[in-house]
Amino acid sequence: MAILVTGGAGYIGSHTCVELLNAGKEIVVLDNFSNSKPEALRRIEKITGKTFPFYQVDLLDQEGVERVFSENQIEAVIHFAGLKAVGESCQIPLKYYHNNLTGTFYLCEAMAKHGCKRIVFSSSATVYGMHNPVPFKEDMPLSATNPYGYTKLFIEQILTDLHTADPDWSVCLLRYFNPIGAHKSGLLGEDPNGIPNNLLPYIAQVATGRLPMLSVYGNDYDTPDGTGVRDYIHVVDLAIGHVKALDYMMDKTGVEAINLGTGHGYSVLDVVHAFEKACGKPIPYKIAPRRAGDIATSYADSSKAKELLGWTATQTIDDMCEDSWRFCSQNPNGL
Ligand code: NAD
Ligand code: UD1
Repeated sequence: MAILVTGGAGYIGSHTCVELLNAGKEIVVLDNFSNSKPEALRRIEKITGKTFPFYQVDLLDQEGVERVFSENQIEAVIHFAGLKAVGESCQIPLKYYHNNLTGTFYLCEAMAKHGCKRIVFSSSATVYGMHNPVPFKEDMPLSATNPYGYTKLFIEQILTDLHTADPDWSVCLLRYFNPIGAHKSGLLGEDPNGIPNNLLPYIAQVATGRLPMLSVYGNDYDTPDGTGVRDYIHVVDLAIGHVKALDYMMDKTGVEAINLGTGHGYSVLDVVHAFEKACGKPIPYKIAPRRAGDIATSYADSSKAKELLGWTATQTIDDMCEDSWRFCSQNPNGL
């Protein structure tokens, strides 16, 4: 019996494959490489010394998805595959809705057909919207402000409805805060296409000289230094959270939404300074206007993950920046 990892060649998926293999699990990986490269799979094998079946299949290809289930004994799915750029989702919403929602429908249909009713879904702290007080708790009201966020909200609802209709389903909605960092080996890390939207990859490209300077989006928020505060979590801590979630849900049915965050917030300038320490050079930055849709502060109440999964994040912001820098400096052209 194996765990199917959709989107397993991507940033979080590849780190999770490593932790699943390290924990002795069998995996099958599916990805269409729309935002990743085959090299990530070779690196997973290099780090773990293990091989696994891989399918270059698009979730929108119903027959391809069916083939994965008919050729393997899948006992649970970790579903990472999806498009994730907020700005792009506003420009091409139909593509986001089609890829993320239709892809999930075809996946769940194949699962149901083959009697596989356990799924861990990559949700996001973005579902807490703009108006909840921090720390964000799983039972707070949810909302979205852009098509990407709506795909997360809708998929949470769809998977909940699946369980309501058929109580044999076991659904875990993992709400990630801000994953950063890289594998300690320097072999795996975040490798975005084009100019990065998110803070860490942007800072990393300033550090390597590919971009001239960081724009800090606003220094007039109600935060200690005026810049936005986020709950940055090491991608390996996040990956381990998936292994724990899988173990937890194996002998249960139901739906659980669980935050994966550290419970601590750091400002943009805190991260800039931690990265400067890691790379040993200054990161030039300028203060720019606020980015539309940003909130001042986001961090998790992470007590549910501790209680249910026995999981807490262990790595510090310095670890995250050191590991990001190791990956970027060892792989200046990405994977
Ligand atoms: P990523 O883009 O690196 O990985 C996603 C993978 O899915 C890629 O390898 C891509 O090629 C693949 N994919 C996309 N559409 C597909 C399809 N139709 N069929 C097959 N493969 C497909 O992204 P990531 O950062 O690893 O994120 C993984 C998941 O976690 C996504 O669902 C994302 O929305 C969610 N998430 C990410 C973050 C973050 O900050 N990185 C935060 C919260 C939630
Ligand atoms: C972004 C997404 C969110 C997603 C989350 C986790 C947007 C609007 N939101 O949120 O949906 O769930 O990532 O992946 O993209 N910053 C700068 N300069 C930059 C980039 C960012 O100052 O060049 C600041 C931002 O204003 C924010 C912080 O850095 O305060 C973190 O930004 P980012 O990495 O984009 O993550 P989020 O805004 O939390």
